[in-house]
Amino acid sequence: MDLRALETPPSDAERAVIDALLGDEGGPATVPIASARRKRHLLLPALHAVQARVGWISPGALGYVCRRLDVPPAEGFGVASFYALFALAERPPVALHVCDDIACKMAGADDLIHSLTREFGQAGHTTGESAWHRSPCLGLCEQAPAALYTSAGERPVERGLGAMTHERAARLMQGNAPGEPSSPALHQVGEPGLRLLSRVGRVDPTSIDAYRAEGGYRALRLALELGPPRVMRELMESGLVGRGGAAFPTGKKWEAAARAPARPHYVVCNADESEPGTFKDRVLMEQDPFALIEAMTIAGVTVGAELGYLYVRAEYPLASQRLAHAIREVRARGLLGPDILGRGVGFELEIRRGAGAYICGEETALFNSLEGFRGEPRSKPPFPVEVGLFGKPTVVNNVETLVNVPFIVEHGAAEYRKLGTAASPGTRLFCVSGRVERPGLYELPFGVTLGALLERAGGVKGGRPLQGVLLGGAAGTFVGKAALALPLTFEDTRRAGVTLGSGVVLVLDDQVAVAPLLARIARFFRDESCGQCVPCRVGTVRQEELVTRLTRKQPRGNLDQELVLLAELGQVMRDASICGLGQTASAAIESAVKELGAFGKGAP
Ligand SMILES: Cc1cc2nc3c(=O)[nH]c(=O)nc-3n(C[C@H](O)[C@H](O)[C@H](O)COP(=O)(O)O)c2cc1C
Ligand code: SF4
Ligand code: FES
Repeated sequence: MDLRALETPPSDAERAVIDALLGDEGGPATVPIASARRKRHLLLPALHAVQARVGWISPGALGYVCRRLDVPPAEGFGVASFYALFALAERPPVALHVCDDIACKMAGADDLIHSLTREFGQAGHTTGESAWHRSPCLGLCEQAPAALYTSAGERPVERGLGAMTHERAARLMQGNAPGEPSSPALHQVGEPGLRLLSRVGRVDPTSIDAYRAEGGYRALRLALELGPPRVMRELMESGLVGRGGAAFPTGKKWEAAARAPARPHYVVCNADESEPGTFKDRVLMEQDPFALIEAMTIAGVTVGAELGYLYVRAEYPLASQRLAHAIREVRARGLLGPDILGRGVGFELEIRRGAGAYICGEETALFNSLEGFRGEPRSKPPFPVEVGLFGKPTVVNNVETLVNVPFIVEHGAAEYRKLGTAASPGTRLFCVSGRVERPGLYELPFGVTLGALLERAGGVKGGRPLQGVLLGGAAGTFVGKAALALPLTFEDTRRAGVTLGSGVVLVLDDQVAVAPLLARIARFFRDESCGQCVPCRVGTVRQEELVTRLTRKQPRGNLDQELVLLAELGQVMRDASICGLGQTASAAIESAVKELGAFGKGAP
């Protein structure tokens, strides 16, 4: 794009939505530097507003946003072009994003994409008022194949849709309305002993009264009575460990942030959930939004933060809507705001939406994204508890981690520890998808074996033999049948050299061809690398080329030589990448070679 084009004026509709968000343009022509810094964090919300109104971000709209926020146009363009869901070229108002990632691939996404290509042309091709696009995992894996429908206009519509068929997709492409969002696959509704899913599927997620009738907000009241040191002690003693992938003790994190002398402190909920195969946070936010808000409020008052951000991936429109509604409700009841429950303690919450970038789930990339920069990870140390969002001490936690907190505060650490193991206390959410009888979200105590979990999900579909399981998502590891006896805990999986990651359990029967899944995983990492450091930027490209050659059975040299190269690439990325994306980009592929004999003779 010629950046001078950004000097063209916005259309009336574009100007109106930007002014509605930022206030009318007036006052001094140039925003003073200090307030400009305070405003740049509105860059993503402004770009979202424009795209929701007109379907894409025109040079005129981008230029106007940059002027209003005092962001240099080149930087504004760099940010807008970083995110996959922002369109910088004109496109029709309706976009259908069709998932072609691992779980959907196993459920027929390739056929769906071929038939859409036949009828409507290649991805991105305009048909009337619509265009379809390929998408990485949309977090609807238990309902695969999935799609995300967006329609721009005065009343924009966004829907996550499961069980997508060609007929349904074609109707959407032809201008029909999408209907209601899909319901999650839940198989434990009303089961006794649930902690994280106890209300899910049973209690109206839009009603604060229903939430309170089920014990909601008892924990916050208690936390305010007990005071931060007691809450912190319970959290420490509970042994709660983060569920976002890095398995860091939550109590330690909160304590370090609370102690940090710099002010203000922030609390950030990482709801970016973009790890292929993961959908647990979506279900929690859609079905029990008040629990997350209560947990974040407890976090805020405990670590001395007055403002928290919920960073929700853009592919989760229903979660954002439900959370926004819940925030309005609790604010009206004095459970959020300047004086919570009349105790003289204040805490506020804002929702921010990502825009289609897996890397923004990495905590420091997430801060950059929230601040209105490209979502590129920062070097650590310093760690977020000292220098985090806006350079201030910040607690960042995953949705599932936070939803454990009200139980711990209300029932105490000893009760919490009654489930799970000493080193992995509590319960865990497992996102079960692929070739199982009952895909869905399961809550089970840590220590359940992989085999027992699969039995809960009805076993392998159609009683076919199991080939293997992908544990932990695209950044995780494949395991074979021998792992059925593996207890699912942090300590056992670590010992076995595998990972629970974000709780993904993708089941492969004997008929699944593994090589195309590996090719998709390799493409995912190539697409999602932020490109900031060479080992990852180049390594993920070389890895994808290599996996493509092996998938086509066209090795350079012979298979053994290619596998040596694959291992070397993996080692370099592990050793020399700045962040976890590069460090894990080869894990699933290398484990599939080792555990499932991928690419070998006779591999399915
Ligand atoms: C590439 C990458 C993507 C990540 N994506 C997520 C994510 O979507 N959600 C999440 O909670 N953590 C994600 N993480 C982990 C976060 O950096 C961070 O460890 C986590 O949010 C901390 O919360 P916890 O202590 O509650 O687990 C990701 C890490 C990396 C390296
Ligand atoms: S490892 Fe990859 S994703 Fe992470 S900072 Fe480097 S280039 Fe970016
Ligand atoms: S929604 Fe398609 S793989 Fe997750």
